[in-house]
Amino acid sequence: MTIIALVGNKGGAGKTTLTVNIASAMSQTASTVVVDADPQRSSLQWRAMRDTPQGLNVLDGVDDLAQAVDQARDGHTHVMIDCPPSVHASQTHEALRLCDIALVPVQPSPLDLWATVHIEQAVETARENNPTLRALLIINQLEPRTRLSKLVRQGLAELSMPAADAAIRRRVAYRVSVLEGKSVFELGSQGRAAAEEILQLISEVNLQ
Ligand SMILES: Nc1ncnc2c1ncn2[C@@H]1O[C@H](COP(=O)(O)OP(=O)(O)OP(=O)(O)O)[C@@H](O)[C@H]1O
Ligand SMILES: [Mg+2]
Repeated sequence: MTIIALVGNKGGAGKTTLTVNIASAMSQTASTVVVDADPQRSSLQWRAMRDTPQGLNVLDGVDDLAQAVDQARDGHTHVMIDCPPSVHASQTHEALRLCDIALVPVQPSPLDLWATVHIEQAVETARENNPTLRALLIINQLEPRTRLSKLVRQGLAELSMPAADAAIRRRVAYRVSVLEGKSVFELGSQGRAAAEEILQLISEVNLQ
């Protein structure tokens, strides 16, 4: 089973958005489940918005993440963990202990890039007991062709944590889909560009 955790040290970086959309994409070809480890329970709220019992399931892993992941092992090949917005939270520690891959969404701003240093430290510490842990920054809410987006690419090169080439743009589709508990894959043409970049990210990072 592959365990992928969305971690970060800032609120609003895009952990929940990427969790539900990457998991929705993967569930089309592999048995995938989300474990919500964030006390805000946003992924669980997203699931509750859906008007159908079918589709991607979300388990509550806030109080006992290890137990929820064990439960997820039954019948699933892929688990995505949505973490709270702090590397100091016990759930984030536990997720970094359990996961194979940590994805770290970060907004393309210098302040947010600098803040990733705390995540790098948490990943380094986690590797003492989880030596094969992979960690990757994911640029989220990119506005291409801006001067800032070019500067951010240069800034990334100075960090020791690698970043995926595939970036996620700022798109209305990500916001509207959540209103109905949907993924961008269920929005038809409105979600197509977003769906394509999510698939590109999955393929580049070899999540499946
Ligand atoms: N690529 C994007 N394009 C447009 N809006 C986005 C994008 N990614 C995230 N958002 C919006 O930004 C806000 C924060 O995203 P999200 O809730 O996924 O972040 P988070 O890291 O899970 O936050 P928290 O730390 O509070 O759990 C939401 O309103 C979401 O719809
Ligand atoms: Mg969240």
